[in-house]
Amino acid sequence: MHNRSPLPHVFVFPLPLQGPVNCMLKLAELLSLQNIRITFLNTQHIQQRLLSCTDHKSHFKRYANLRFETVPDGLPEDNPRTGDQIPNLLASMEIVAAPIFREMLTVGAYGPDSEAPVTCIIADGIFTFAPGVAGEIGVPLLYFDTISPCGLWAYLCLPKLIEAGEVPFKDDNMDELIMNAPGMEGIIRRRDLPSFCRAKDLDDPLIKLVLREDEHIPLARGLIFNTFQELEAPILSQMRNICPNVYAIGPLHTHLKARLEAETTTSNSIWKEDMSCISWLDMQPLRSVVYVSIGSLVIITKEEFLELWHGLVNSGSRFLWVQRQGSVIGGDMVSETPVELAQGTKERGCIVSWAPQQEVLAHPAVGAFFTHSGWNSSLESIVEGKPMICWPYGVDQQVNSRYVEEVWKLGVDMKDMCDRVVIEKMVKEVMESRKDEFLERADHVAKLAKASVSEGGSSFRDLDRLIDDMKSMRIQATSGRN
Ligand code: UDX
Repeated sequence: MHNRSPLPHVFVFPLPLQGPVNCMLKLAELLSLQNIRITFLNTQHIQQRLLSCTDHKSHFKRYANLRFETVPDGLPEDNPRTGDQIPNLLASMEIVAAPIFREMLTVGAYGPDSEAPVTCIIADGIFTFAPGVAGEIGVPLLYFDTISPCGLWAYLCLPKLIEAGEVPFKDDNMDELIMNAPGMEGIIRRRDLPSFCRAKDLDDPLIKLVLREDEHIPLARGLIFNTFQELEAPILSQMRNICPNVYAIGPLHTHLKARLEAETTTSNSIWKEDMSCISWLDMQPLRSVVYVSIGSLVIITKEEFLELWHGLVNSGSRFLWVQRQGSVIGGDMVSETPVELAQGTKERGCIVSWAPQQEVLAHPAVGAFFTHSGWNSSLESIVEGKPMICWPYGVDQQVNSRYVEEVWKLGVDMKDMCDRVVIEKMVKEVMESRKDEFLERADHVAKLAKASVSEGGSSFRDLDRLIDDMKSMRIQATSGRN
């Protein structure tokens, strides 16, 4: 072992998807600002899309201590890496990327005997191969699960739910309350659990994947979350039973802005943002527009696509709709606007393929967010004080939409319903009949979010603690601990 104490060198390995990469890049910038050396491992696919869709190259030049490395993800270049391809991506990362990651940190450029040995690993919680590598080189592993803590807690409760016979569901009463998720009693019904809990039997591949993740999360030296204490205190205290060392440092995009001061941030989009929607918003009255986006992975049927379109037009509200390329099963959208929707869309709608979402949600013309309840989107809406109409699909989205409606009172949950009448009703409820109630509540929570990332705030303090902890991490004798 060396006798020199190497400078802190943190190796960041995100799940190669838009949501996770987005917030892990924000964390990497925050750590770089504190003179911590960062190596960020993107897949070649993600890195190429970031470089072609953003000013990534010029933006990150300012950080001399932040370096990007890339690995293949093992999938053909034309694989969409969304929807039902995600399990293939996860499997391929395990087979192709994990061995290269291990080689880099054991005998390669960042190994214990290299010029720049890694002193800490931050990895997505789904990478169950990470604890082994951390143990092999004797450095701490911090898991950063970029889904919501309330969503992850539902994942971690799966063994208890199976043992108690609550999963698989015994019958089709989806409103049955769940009794064996500590801290979620009286909140979560069967329909609010992550969608993999609807599996008919325990051989379901997603059930097995989550149970494996559950076994590995407690092996980490600490858990990082993109949330703030004032939003999820009950869940975070449950998390501390799994791993006492929890860092709640979000909303990360706002936290970075707060610490960058005058400097500008960059977009981390892997699609080209259509900035024309900002000029369109500039011409709309205050809080008159519903912003509609289903994130980067969800794929809907053509029927759902048309029901959504009818619901938006029939609501009479203005709408800015992201129709992401490839987000409708069976090829893309419809070749032209259906006649009965043309007038309403022309008068009140703006449609883009990808938007500068953080800028859109901050725009005064936006009055509400029709969202799939992905965690980054949810936090971005919360921090801008925009009420939500939630139409969850999978992953943690079912739990998030329930918390938005039932716990945080920041909007309505359209879960398991998708027809034009319900959509019209919910848009009118948030934009008209209950507008003031939601705006007042959303404004209050937005203030809590901004306070948490300001000096002295809970997220500000947790990030300082994380940085101090990283600066004191040294390579332990390879005792297999991590
Ligand atoms: C995935 C999962 O689906 C989600 O449930 C989980 O919480 C995180 O990983 P994704 O579906 O992409 O994320 O949703 P989300 O977490 O909301 O991330 C989407 C990101 O893309 C957001 O940061 C949003 O600002 C950005 N975005 C979305 C754009 O920049 N432009 C758009 O038009 C749409």
